[in-house]
Amino acid sequence: MVAGGPSDYRLKMSMREGKGCGMGRLSGKVAVITGGVSGIARGIVDFYVAEGAKVVVADIQVDKGAVLEAQFPESVAFSRCDIRSEDAIAATMAMAEERFGGLDILVHAAASVDHKAKFVDLTSEAWDDGQSTLLRSHVLGIKHAIGPMNRRGGGSIVLLASAASENFSPAASMVYVVCKGAVLYLTRWAAFELAADNIRVNAIVPGFYATPMWGQLIGASKDVADLMPAYLDEMASGSQPLPRAGKPVDIAYASTYLGSDESAFVTGTHLAVDGGLSIFRPSVPREKVMAYLETAKARAEADIQARDR
Ligand SMILES: NC(=O)c1ccc[n+]([C@@H]2O[C@H](COP(=O)([O-])OP(=O)(O)OC[C@H]3O[C@@H](n4cnc5c(N)ncnc54)[C@H](O)[C@@H]3O)[C@@H](O)[C@H]2O)c1
Repeated sequence: MVAGGPSDYRLKMSMREGKGCGMGRLSGKVAVITGGVSGIARGIVDFYVAEGAKVVVADIQVDKGAVLEAQFPESVAFSRCDIRSEDAIAATMAMAEERFGGLDILVHAAASVDHKAKFVDLTSEAWDDGQSTLLRSHVLGIKHAIGPMNRRGGGSIVLLASAASENFSPAASMVYVVCKGAVLYLTRWAAFELAADNIRVNAIVPGFYATPMWGQLIGASKDVADLMPAYLDEMASGSQPLPRAGKPVDIAYASTYLGSDESAFVTGTHLAVDGGLSIFRPSVPREKVMAYLETAKARAEADIQARDR
């Protein structure tokens, strides 16, 4: 291919559209991607399939899982998996071996922002439920990936952390930032313990991404939350030095690199894909963030009313 020529241009355009570069960077690999029916991880699924991987998508949104399987009948299998359950996590890893013959990559992106209590109001139950989603699931995902990855001679694990764990966001909660911070340390420990097995462990640190998670944060229904990302641009443009929201494709590139053999000598580190948030977080008061979110919610609700009229 001639650099800058028409094929180079087509390649660049297909990459910008989030279709991967179709060069088979993950050919022959089998991945489990948690949270893969929505937001950031949905973009990773598209990329992984385009790059030749077979993918088990693990999530609790069963209807969206069925849509994904229908879209990629040869390449995607859906696992109904609540990441708070060790049995469900183990069954998901086993599914990768049964359906596609092995497991090479785990991308753990599923997360929830359901729990927002401050210390004074915190119950043990809320803490346990929050951390079982946001931290324990990472530990158990790693635990149950080891056997299948050992049978392939190694593997790559990519954990989704958050910029909020290092550089607090006004909208974040205690359980979220504490667990996401621990994910960064878990990454280092797991990389150390599993290096002899040729299993690499790295983390990605997202900044602000316009995804349905923001709707969940303010208690929007799932339908409304799914439409809100279209209305978060104004909020995103002032949230970090690069004046736009991150797109799933931004993290799809990073996780393709970390999942592939291109990063064969990279382990125990984290990669910020955050528009510069780690160097500077603009001071946006919590009230302003909440006002942006409420406006986006109202617009999404109006869309649904117009659609149903
Ligand atoms: N959106 C952002 O600005 C942002 C910023 C920093 C970090 N992150 C991280 O990126 C990752 C992806 O988030 P997103 O923004 O795409 O969110 P999202 O809400 O679009 O996707 C999260 C997915 O996780 C699934 N999920 C939730 N609880 C689950 C459970 N118990 N079992 C199985 N699946 C479950 C949801 O069904 C959903 O499909 C998360 O780890 C999140 O913490 C996001």
